[in-house]
Amino acid sequence: MNIRAFLPADIPVLARLMAGDPLWQRYGITEASAARRLAAGLAAGATIAVAEVEGAPVGFIWYVARGAFARSGYIMLIGVAPTHRGGGIGRALLAHAEAALFAQADDVFLLVSDFNIAAQAFYRRLGYQQVGALSDYVVEGVTELVFRKRRHDVRSPAEPGSDAA
Ligand SMILES: CC(C)(COP(=O)(O)OP(=O)(O)OC[C@H]1O[C@@H](n2cnc3c(N)ncnc32)[C@H](O)[C@@H]1OP(=O)(O)O)[C@@H](O)C(=O)NCCC(=O)NCCS
Repeated sequence: MNIRAFLPADIPVLARLMAGDPLWQRYGITEASAARRLAAGLAAGATIAVAEVEGAPVGFIWYVARGAFARSGYIMLIGVAPTHRGGGIGRALLAHAEAALFAQADDVFLLVSDFNIAAQAFYRRLGYQQVGALSDYVVEGVTELVFRKRRHDVRSPAEPGSDAA
């Protein structure tokens, strides 16, 4: 498995991956709308990494430096093809994003749907904790759980030199 930058040729494969997943179906995402979103991201210089196995894309992660509160790292999307789940690809993609995000900020945030129990288990396993919840935020009837991971497990809120407000 190899992690590399996202290329235009990945768009149809990843759009199919998204549109085929019950998670994104719940958000009304189709192959066409996923392809438009990925193409717009590429055009705007978004940071998207792709996991490939034997030259074929099997997963991706889209992350944004300072994407949370204009301060912390943000994981916007992650997905692994159903055929390749449970083999450490999600972990590797998340580690790839965290290496970049934690180089610039102390925290990484993400949103995970209340019904997406599998992804919640995945994130908790990799050190994330729920710190909040946003009801009816992206779509009516779904609560987005706010998950956070800190670079340091314990950090004093009054740390000298902290620029916290
Ligand atoms: C969530 C997702 C990215 C995980 O990818 P993956 O490649 O299957 O995950 P990994 O194999 O790297 O698993 C990493 C760790 O998380 C745990 N984990 C992964 N899926 C899990 C699940 N469904 N239940 C419990 N633990 C899980 C694994 O056991 C593993 O820990 P271990 O090595 O100690 O066993 C993948 O399931 C997916 O694409 N889901 C659909 C899209 C989605 O929900 N994205 C998240 C949106 S917020």
